[in-house]
Amino acid sequence: MTSGRSFYITTPIYYPSDVPHIGHGYTTVAADALARWHRQAGDDTWMLTGTDEHGQKMMRAAAANGVTPQEWVDKLVTEAWFPLLKTLDVANDDFIRTTQERHETRAQKFWQSIYDRGYVYAGEYEALYCVGCEEFKPESEIVDGTGPFEGLKVCAIHSKPLELLHEKNYFFKLSEFQDRLLALYRDRPDFVQPESARNEVVAFVQQGLKDLSISRSAFDWGIPIPWDSSHVLYVWIDALLNYATAIGYGADDENFARRWPGYHVVGKDILRFHAVIWPAMLMAAGLDVPKGVFAHGWLLVGGEKMSKSKATGIAPETLVETFGSDAFRFYFLSAIAFGQDGSFSWEDLSARYQAELANGFGNLASRTIAMIGRYFDGAVPEPGAYTDVDLAIQRVVQDAASRADEAIERFRIDEAIRAVWTIVDELNGYITDNEPWALAKDETQRERLATVLYTCAEGLRALAVLLSPIMPQSTAKLWAALGADQALGTLAEQPIREVGTWGVLPAGTATQALAPLFPRIEQAD
Ligand code: MSP
Repeated sequence: MTSGRSFYITTPIYYPSDVPHIGHGYTTVAADALARWHRQAGDDTWMLTGTDEHGQKMMRAAAANGVTPQEWVDKLVTEAWFPLLKTLDVANDDFIRTTQERHETRAQKFWQSIYDRGYVYAGEYEALYCVGCEEFKPESEIVDGTGPFEGLKVCAIHSKPLELLHEKNYFFKLSEFQDRLLALYRDRPDFVQPESARNEVVAFVQQGLKDLSISRSAFDWGIPIPWDSSHVLYVWIDALLNYATAIGYGADDENFARRWPGYHVVGKDILRFHAVIWPAMLMAAGLDVPKGVFAHGWLLVGGEKMSKSKATGIAPETLVETFGSDAFRFYFLSAIAFGQDGSFSWEDLSARYQAELANGFGNLASRTIAMIGRYFDGAVPEPGAYTDVDLAIQRVVQDAASRADEAIERFRIDEAIRAVWTIVDELNGYITDNEPWALAKDETQRERLATVLYTCAEGLRALAVLLSPIMPQSTAKLWAALGADQALGTLAEQPIREVGTWGVLPAGTATQALAPLFPRIEQAD
């Protein structure tokens, strides 16, 4: 069911030494929801996630745990990072690890090509390095330490002391790309989204770019530089390449041409790497730049970025165990404007679960299926003549479907969900206004009752399709309860961009009982 239009989307690759928290989960489900939407639309979709396994941070953590770096990352990836995808019901097409052979050889090939094109030179380097960020810090992110770090220079993000490094390094001529990057941001205003992120990147590049150190020689946990094996690739330079190596750069030209260029969803903390350094690397290699980079905001706890180093990380399983993965996905993708920061609170999640999922969507589904069962023996009724109120619902569905698709094109998942939710709200109001339970008592209203319940069932059909990228599990249950599996085929086969067409669910389709989609949560006191 592919349209041929390629949609390749990635998450950042995560440092496995951090235990996954809901901030990582947020990025991952956002990319997954976008991928599922496009897949459901018939686009030639590919979703990639993975882990970033080299660098000094990983080497030190392994040493502190008395194991080799490879043993250390293998354990973390297997025990924490693969399970995260299951917990959050993520349908990634591939998972790349930067310690895989496919990545290492292709990354070397990439750098050899940039070297051969004359964009690399050797030089001396001395600067302050933050191991937490795995980055030489610019002036603007160096601050004076306080408390135990009084008198030292610390990283503004990690509040930990910086290390003065002096090494022979290889440099990438990033400074040569300033004009081409500025032209890119100018010619393609949506290359970096949202607008605030774009402005930040443009201002940064306008200040001038320094050449970038791309190698380290003080340790060896990394990919050897192809022309000088006493150096390893700087971990960020190695990591960014995953987006190309995973789809066959340097090995499978056909697949690479099919997928590339793609879109990157990243947290705003790593925007510059993706919107400045990565496109410059691609330009140097003579390849297309990404289609776009979308920077989302941070999940905040107590007004600060949630992070493991500050002990504010919340494990995704904690929320999923109580509310389920659909609610996790729905909550973070709808409650936070995609691109802005958002505060998580247990109370807010509980309140939205109850109001929007249990009382809103869940109840609409339960009562529609129950009434079709009770009044029409579980067969979707044949609608009679439509009145204005029925036609208004049809327009709401059509309008919501096209507004949602348009919002997804802009990566605004929250707006898409808001548009879809108009169907939930309008249909619940429609049931209240039309009182099918009262119509059922009057034999002369039989046809009207059929029209009302058909309208509800068709609305639910559209909702199941439109919400399936966000809540795959509950929508699959609803799809089965509507009998749509039998009548229309699997939910995954339903083309999302045509979902607004009315009258798809055939009258006579046999419905099945539906357990509550979002059961009541017993609150622990
Ligand atoms: N390994 C690098 C990325 C390399 S990509 C070529 C890295 N990894 S990370 O594990 O530290 O973080 C990855 C991403 O996790 C962030 O960019 C962001 O998308 C997400 N988040 C981490 N903490 C977050 C919040 N508190 N809130 C929202 N997202 C967060 O950086």
